[in-house]
Amino acid sequence: MRSDRTTRRAALALAAVLMTATAMPALAQESAKKIRIGVIGAGNIGGTIGGLWVKDGHEVMFASRHPETLAPMIAELGPKAKAGTPEEAIKFGEAVFVAVPYKAYPDLAKDLATSLSGKVVLDAGNATQKRDGALYDEVQANGIGATSAKYLPGAKVVRAFNAANYKVFAKAGANGGQDRPGGRMAIPIAGDDPAALKVAEGLVRDAGFDPVVVGPLKDADKFAMGSPGFGHEATAPELREKLGLGK
Ligand SMILES: NC(=O)c1ccc[n+]([C@@H]2O[C@H](COP(=O)([O-])OP(=O)(O)OC[C@H]3O[C@@H](n4cnc5c(N)ncnc54)[C@H](OP(=O)(O)O)[C@@H]3O)[C@@H](O)[C@H]2O)c1
Repeated sequence: MRSDRTTRRAALALAAVLMTATAMPALAQESAKKIRIGVIGAGNIGGTIGGLWVKDGHEVMFASRHPETLAPMIAELGPKAKAGTPEEAIKFGEAVFVAVPYKAYPDLAKDLATSLSGKVVLDAGNATQKRDGALYDEVQANGIGATSAKYLPGAKVVRAFNAANYKVFAKAGANGGQDRPGGRMAIPIAGDDPAALKVAEGLVRDAGFDPVVVGPLKDADKFAMGSPGFGHEATAPELREKLGLGK
Protein backbone atom coordinates (compact mmCIF):
# COMPACT_ATOMS: atom_id res chain seq x y z
CA MET A 1 0.00 0.00 0.00
CA ARG A 2 2.72 2.40 1.08
CA SER A 3 4.91 1.47 -1.90
CA ASP A 4 1.94 1.98 -4.29
CA ARG A 5 1.53 5.49 -2.92
CA THR A 6 5.26 6.16 -3.19
CA THR A 7 5.27 4.95 -6.81
CA ARG A 8 2.26 7.15 -7.62
CA ARG A 9 3.93 10.20 -6.07
CA ALA A 10 7.11 9.56 -8.03
CA ALA A 11 5.09 9.18 -11.23
CA LEU A 12 3.23 12.44 -10.55
CA ALA A 13 6.45 14.30 -9.90
CA LEU A 14 8.08 12.86 -13.01
CA ALA A 15 5.05 13.79 -15.13
CA ALA A 16 5.27 17.37 -13.83
CA VAL A 17 8.97 17.49 -14.71
CA LEU A 18 8.40 16.17 -18.22
CA MET A 19 5.46 18.45 -18.89
CA THR A 20 7.43 21.52 -17.92
CA ALA A 21 10.71 20.53 -19.50
CA THR A 22 10.48 23.12 -22.26
CA ALA A 23 11.51 26.71 -21.54
CA MET A 24 8.85 28.72 -19.72
CA PRO A 25 8.13 32.19 -21.12
CA ALA A 26 8.79 35.05 -18.74
CA LEU A 27 5.70 36.02 -16.73
CA ALA A 28 7.45 38.69 -14.73
CA GLN A 29 4.53 41.10 -14.78
CA GLU A 30 2.21 38.44 -13.40
CA SER A 31 4.39 36.41 -11.06
CA ALA A 32 4.21 36.47 -7.29
CA LYS A 33 7.44 37.01 -5.37
CA LYS A 34 9.00 33.58 -4.92
CA ILE A 35 8.00 32.43 -1.46
CA ARG A 36 8.24 29.36 0.73
CA ILE A 37 5.11 27.21 0.52
CA GLY A 38 4.08 24.38 2.82
CA VAL A 39 1.90 21.73 1.20
CA ILE A 40 -0.14 19.64 3.66
CA GLY A 41 -1.06 16.42 1.88
CA ALA A 42 1.33 15.50 -0.90
CA GLY A 43 -1.08 13.24 -2.76
CA ASN A 44 -2.79 13.80 -6.09
CA ILE A 45 -3.65 17.47 -5.74
CA GLY A 46 -0.89 18.57 -3.34
CA GLY A 47 1.76 16.78 -5.40
CA THR A 48 0.47 18.25 -8.65
CA ILE A 49 0.04 21.91 -7.64
CA GLY A 50 3.10 21.87 -5.37
CA GLY A 51 5.12 20.46 -8.28
CA LEU A 52 3.96 23.31 -10.53
CA TRP A 53 5.09 25.85 -7.90
CA VAL A 54 8.50 24.17 -7.66
CA LYS A 55 8.84 24.38 -11.45
CA ASP A 56 8.10 28.10 -11.20
CA GLY A 57 10.89 28.59 -8.67
CA HIS A 58 9.10 28.55 -5.33
CA GLU A 59 10.57 26.56 -2.45
CA VAL A 60 8.03 23.97 -1.39
CA MET A 61 7.97 21.68 1.63
CA PHE A 62 5.65 18.75 1.01
CA ALA A 63 4.18 17.27 4.19
CA SER A 64 3.35 13.73 5.02
CA ARG A 65 2.74 12.01 8.31
CA HIS A 66 5.49 9.72 6.96
CA PRO A 67 7.84 12.19 5.22
CA GLU A 68 10.37 9.50 4.29
CA THR A 69 7.83 8.13 1.78
CA LEU A 70 8.15 11.36 -0.23
CA ALA A 71 11.84 10.82 -1.05
CA PRO A 72 11.35 9.74 -4.71
CA MET A 73 9.08 12.71 -5.43
CA ILE A 74 11.50 15.16 -3.78
CA ALA A 75 14.42 13.71 -5.72
CA GLU A 76 12.53 14.18 -9.00
CA LEU A 77 11.54 17.76 -8.23
CA GLY A 78 15.04 18.87 -7.27
CA PRO A 79 16.58 21.19 -4.68
CA LYS A 80 13.62 23.55 -4.27
CA ALA A 81 11.48 20.66 -2.96
CA LYS A 82 11.70 19.28 0.56
CA ALA A 83 9.76 16.84 2.69
CA GLY A 84 8.63 17.32 6.27
CA THR A 85 5.88 16.67 8.75
CA PRO A 86 2.69 18.78 8.54
CA GLU A 87 3.93 20.85 11.52
CA GLU A 88 7.30 21.48 9.83
CA ALA A 89 5.66 22.41 6.51
CA ILE A 90 3.38 24.95 8.20
CA LYS A 91 6.34 26.56 9.99
CA PHE A 92 8.31 26.59 6.71
CA GLY A 93 5.56 28.08 4.58
CA GLU A 94 4.87 31.78 4.15
CA ALA A 95 1.72 30.34 2.59
CA VAL A 96 0.22 26.89 3.12
CA PHE A 97 -1.70 24.72 0.67
CA VAL A 98 -4.10 22.28 2.35
CA ALA A 99 -4.84 19.22 0.21
CA VAL A 100 -6.03 16.45 2.50
CA PRO A 101 -9.27 14.44 2.55
CA TYR A 102 -11.98 16.57 4.12
CA LYS A 103 -12.61 14.01 6.86
CA ALA A 104 -9.06 14.79 8.09
CA TYR A 105 -9.96 18.45 8.81
CA PRO A 106 -10.93 17.77 12.45
CA ASP A 107 -7.41 16.28 12.88
CA LEU A 108 -5.93 19.48 11.43
CA ALA A 109 -8.00 21.49 13.92
CA LYS A 110 -6.83 19.31 16.81
CA ASP A 111 -3.14 19.00 15.90
CA LEU A 112 -2.24 22.02 13.78
CA ALA A 113 -4.63 24.89 14.53
CA THR A 114 -2.10 26.87 16.57
CA SER A 115 0.53 26.69 13.84
CA LEU A 116 -1.97 27.50 11.09
CA SER A 117 -3.41 30.52 12.87
CA GLY A 118 -2.53 33.74 11.04
CA LYS A 119 -1.23 31.90 7.95
CA VAL A 120 -2.43 32.41 4.40
CA VAL A 121 -4.01 29.03 3.64
CA LEU A 122 -5.09 27.97 0.16
CA ASP A 123 -7.70 25.29 0.75
CA ALA A 124 -8.45 22.69 -1.94
CA GLY A 125 -10.45 20.19 0.12
CA ASN A 126 -13.80 18.93 -1.13
CA ALA A 127 -16.29 17.02 0.97
CA THR A 128 -17.78 13.92 -0.59
CA GLN A 129 -20.61 11.93 0.95
CA LYS A 130 -18.96 8.54 0.51
CA ARG A 131 -15.52 9.47 1.86
CA ASP A 132 -16.25 12.22 4.36
CA GLY A 133 -19.58 11.23 6.00
CA ALA A 134 -20.47 13.67 8.79
CA LEU A 135 -18.16 16.36 7.38
CA TYR A 136 -20.12 16.21 4.11
CA ASP A 137 -23.35 16.80 6.06
CA GLU A 138 -21.75 19.74 7.85
CA VAL A 139 -20.67 21.29 4.55
CA GLN A 140 -24.16 20.82 3.10
CA ALA A 141 -25.63 22.60 6.14
CA ASN A 142 -23.12 25.42 6.61
CA GLY A 143 -21.24 25.82 3.32
CA ILE A 144 -17.71 24.79 2.38
CA GLY A 145 -16.09 28.14 3.23
CA ALA A 146 -17.54 28.36 6.74
CA THR A 147 -16.71 24.72 7.42
CA SER A 148 -13.09 25.10 6.31
CA ALA A 149 -12.79 28.27 8.40
CA LYS A 150 -14.13 26.39 11.43
CA TYR A 151 -11.45 23.68 11.14
CA LEU A 152 -8.67 26.12 10.19
CA PRO A 153 -9.37 28.71 12.93
CA GLY A 154 -7.44 31.95 12.66
CA ALA A 155 -6.06 31.05 9.24
CA LYS A 156 -6.59 33.44 6.32
CA VAL A 157 -8.44 30.90 4.23
CA VAL A 158 -8.74 31.18 0.46
CA ARG A 159 -10.58 28.40 -1.36
CA ALA A 160 -8.51 27.48 -4.43
CA PHE A 161 -7.74 24.57 -6.75
CA ASN A 162 -10.77 22.58 -5.58
CA ALA A 163 -12.90 22.84 -8.71
CA ALA A 164 -11.26 20.39 -11.13
CA ASN A 165 -9.41 17.10 -11.19
CA TYR A 166 -5.67 17.06 -10.57
CA LYS A 167 -5.04 15.55 -14.01
CA VAL A 168 -6.76 18.56 -15.58
CA PHE A 169 -4.57 20.89 -13.49
CA ALA A 170 -1.40 18.94 -14.39
CA LYS A 171 -2.11 19.29 -18.11
CA ALA A 172 -3.44 22.85 -18.11
CA GLY A 173 -0.72 24.21 -15.81
CA ALA A 174 2.22 22.63 -17.64
CA ASN A 175 4.74 25.08 -19.10
CA GLY A 176 3.20 27.97 -17.21
CA GLY A 177 -0.18 27.31 -18.84
CA GLN A 178 1.12 28.77 -22.10
CA ASP A 179 0.50 25.61 -24.15
CA ARG A 180 -3.21 25.36 -23.39
CA PRO A 181 -5.22 25.89 -26.58
CA GLY A 182 -7.50 28.92 -26.20
CA GLY A 183 -5.59 30.44 -23.27
CA ARG A 184 -4.78 29.73 -19.65
CA MET A 185 -7.31 27.87 -17.53
CA ALA A 186 -9.09 29.92 -14.85
CA ILE A 187 -9.11 28.95 -11.18
CA PRO A 188 -12.02 30.27 -9.10
CA ILE A 189 -10.94 31.48 -5.67
CA ALA A 190 -12.82 32.95 -2.70
CA GLY A 191 -11.70 34.43 0.61
CA ASP A 192 -12.39 37.13 3.16
CA ASP A 193 -8.88 38.55 3.65
CA PRO A 194 -7.85 40.92 0.82
CA ALA A 195 -4.11 40.43 1.38
CA ALA A 196 -4.49 36.64 1.43
CA LEU A 197 -6.51 36.82 -1.79
CA LYS A 198 -3.64 38.76 -3.40
CA VAL A 199 -1.15 36.09 -2.33
CA ALA A 200 -3.46 33.38 -3.66
CA GLU A 201 -3.92 35.20 -6.98
CA GLY A 202 -0.15 35.34 -7.43
CA LEU A 203 0.28 31.68 -6.56
CA VAL A 204 -2.50 30.67 -8.96
CA ARG A 205 -0.71 32.58 -11.73
CA ASP A 206 2.62 31.05 -10.81
CA ALA A 207 1.15 27.55 -11.07
CA GLY A 208 0.18 28.40 -14.68
CA PHE A 209 -3.43 29.54 -14.36
CA ASP A 210 -5.51 32.74 -14.26
CA PRO A 211 -7.28 33.51 -10.96
CA VAL A 212 -10.93 34.55 -10.89
CA VAL A 213 -11.93 36.07 -7.54
CA VAL A 214 -15.52 34.94 -7.06
CA GLY A 215 -16.10 36.78 -3.79
CA PRO A 216 -15.81 36.37 -0.01
CA LEU A 217 -15.35 32.95 1.55
CA LYS A 218 -19.08 32.21 1.62
CA ASP A 219 -19.12 32.48 -2.18
CA ALA A 220 -16.92 29.38 -2.36
CA ASP A 221 -20.24 27.51 -2.48
CA LYS A 222 -20.66 28.87 -6.03
CA PHE A 223 -17.82 26.59 -7.20
CA ALA A 224 -18.04 23.84 -4.57
CA MET A 225 -18.12 20.22 -5.65
CA GLY A 226 -21.64 19.45 -6.87
CA SER A 227 -22.45 23.09 -7.66
CA PRO A 228 -22.99 24.45 -11.20
CA GLY A 229 -19.69 26.37 -10.89
CA PHE A 230 -17.62 23.20 -10.39
CA GLY A 231 -15.58 21.43 -13.04
CA HIS A 232 -15.22 24.05 -15.76
CA GLU A 233 -12.13 23.95 -17.93
CA ALA A 234 -12.51 27.56 -18.99
CA THR A 235 -10.54 30.73 -19.49
CA ALA A 236 -11.07 33.62 -17.06
CA PRO A 237 -13.62 35.47 -19.26
CA GLU A 238 -15.49 32.22 -19.90
CA LEU A 239 -15.56 31.35 -16.21
CA ARG A 240 -16.67 34.84 -15.21
CA GLU A 241 -19.59 34.48 -17.60
CA LYS A 242 -20.50 30.99 -16.35
CA LEU A 243 -20.46 32.24 -12.75
CA GLY A 244 -22.43 35.39 -13.56
CA LEU A 245 -19.61 37.68 -12.46
CA GLY A 246 -19.80 40.13 -15.34
CA LYS A 247 -16.81 41.29 -17.38
N1 LIG B 1 -7.78 14.47 -6.55
C1 LIG B 1 -8.25 15.55 -7.15
O1 LIG B 1 -8.29 15.61 -8.39
C2 LIG B 1 -8.73 16.71 -6.33
C3 LIG B 1 -9.06 17.92 -6.99
C4 LIG B 1 -9.48 19.02 -6.24
C5 LIG B 1 -9.60 18.89 -4.86
N2 LIG B 1 -9.30 17.71 -4.25
C6 LIG B 1 -9.44 17.62 -2.80
O2 LIG B 1 -8.11 17.66 -2.26
C7 LIG B 1 -8.04 16.83 -1.10
C8 LIG B 1 -6.95 15.80 -1.32
O3 LIG B 1 -7.30 14.95 -2.41
P1 LIG B 1 -6.23 14.00 -3.09
O4 LIG B 1 -6.92 13.34 -4.21
O5 LIG B 1 -4.96 14.74 -3.34
O6 LIG B 1 -6.00 12.93 -1.92
P2 LIG B 1 -4.80 11.89 -1.75
O7 LIG B 1 -4.12 11.65 -3.05
O8 LIG B 1 -5.37 10.73 -1.01
O9 LIG B 1 -3.78 12.67 -0.81
C9 LIG B 1 -4.19 13.18 0.42
C10 LIG B 1 -2.99 13.33 1.32
O10 LIG B 1 -3.47 13.80 2.57
C11 LIG B 1 -2.62 13.31 3.59
N3 LIG B 1 -3.42 13.13 4.81
C12 LIG B 1 -4.46 12.31 5.00
N4 LIG B 1 -4.95 12.43 6.24
C13 LIG B 1 -4.17 13.38 6.85
C14 LIG B 1 -4.18 13.96 8.15
N5 LIG B 1 -5.06 13.57 9.07
N6 LIG B 1 -3.26 14.91 8.42
C15 LIG B 1 -2.34 15.29 7.50
N7 LIG B 1 -2.30 14.76 6.25
C16 LIG B 1 -3.21 13.82 5.94
C17 LIG B 1 -2.05 12.00 3.09
O11 LIG B 1 -0.68 12.03 3.35
P3 LIG B 1 0.08 11.02 4.33
O12 LIG B 1 -0.77 9.77 4.43
O13 LIG B 1 1.35 10.77 3.63
O14 LIG B 1 0.22 11.76 5.61
C18 LIG B 1 -2.26 12.03 1.58
O15 LIG B 1 -1.09 12.03 0.83
C19 LIG B 1 -9.43 16.24 -0.91
O16 LIG B 1 -10.16 17.01 0.02
C20 LIG B 1 -10.04 16.32 -2.28
O17 LIG B 1 -11.46 16.39 -2.26
C21 LIG B 1 -8.87 16.63 -4.96
